[in-house]
Amino acid sequence: MDSPRHFLQLKDLSRDELDYLFERTRIIKARFKTYQRHWPLQDRTLVMIFEKASTRTRLSFEAGVQQLGGSAIYLNTRDSQLGRGEPVEDAAEVISRMSDMVMIRTFEQDIIERFASHSRVPVINGLTNEYHPCQILADIFTFIEHRGPIQGKTVAWIGDSNNVCNTWLQAAEIFGFDVHVSTPPGYEVEAERAGLYGTAHFKQFADPMDAARDVDLVTTDVWTSMGFEAENEERLRDFADWQVDAEMMRAARPDAVFMHCLPAHRGEEVAAEVIDGAQSVVWDEAENRLHTQKALMEFLLLGRVND
Ligand code: CP
Ligand code: NVA
Repeated sequence: MDSPRHFLQLKDLSRDELDYLFERTRIIKARFKTYQRHWPLQDRTLVMIFEKASTRTRLSFEAGVQQLGGSAIYLNTRDSQLGRGEPVEDAAEVISRMSDMVMIRTFEQDIIERFASHSRVPVINGLTNEYHPCQILADIFTFIEHRGPIQGKTVAWIGDSNNVCNTWLQAAEIFGFDVHVSTPPGYEVEAERAGLYGTAHFKQFADPMDAARDVDLVTTDVWTSMGFEAENEERLRDFADWQVDAEMMRAARPDAVFMHCLPAHRGEEVAAEVIDGAQSVVWDEAENRLHTQKALMEFLLLGRVND
């Protein structure tokens, strides 16, 4: 049996494969918008395992696989044996014999790596503490739709150096753009945890205004990610000066777009006037989770197709 292709972090796909995915996303999105049936995954089953909450990821995978002609099964830690100590390796052996593809949202990256190493079918990372590769597929596709190629551009990441930030940094290495990161002291990027080959594509700034200056895209995320709730009070204090507000958007290029993976906390990491303002593309970004992940699922199961 050939070993399956997994998507555990963004760099699991090459630049060429990602470019293909975006090209395919355009076709799949256009078909969806015009009600054209596209059922390449007829009779295929996706199992979705959630150890953390979700709105967008669950919806986009469940709707997405159905729109491709397949079906989805939702499992969570609470109602399955996963929450009662069944080894992840055993779960992977069993689940992957009964399905065609698995999407997992969990805590440490190590959990999904262990699952994948015992899985007969492709495994997709639907968010771990370290990475959120499906989010960045949608984000880059959204940027391209609004502004064209991202190569050579500059992105400002303001706030926590979390899973979404790490994945933006991997994307910068793959696509050849720069990321200006500004975090409060003590929350800086850890290059090794981010899975980076080097530091050529990112620059850390003490002052978030400096990070935002003349960039093409400003983005941020919650100050407290899932799994870190115990630190919430401390983080509210530490991140108070790292809000993306209108003044910060004025420091960016006039045609800069604003992105947020959502859910957002208006008045914390982003001011309402920014996320609800003219430069914000967050609803397109959320919608594109659906289209990019449909292209991803098709690719992982069928490889390149040209119908
Ligand atoms: N952006 C994102 O992954 O949202 P959910 O947590 O709602 O899935
Ligand atoms: N960084 C956030 C993203 C949520 C989609 C978290 O991990 O909770």
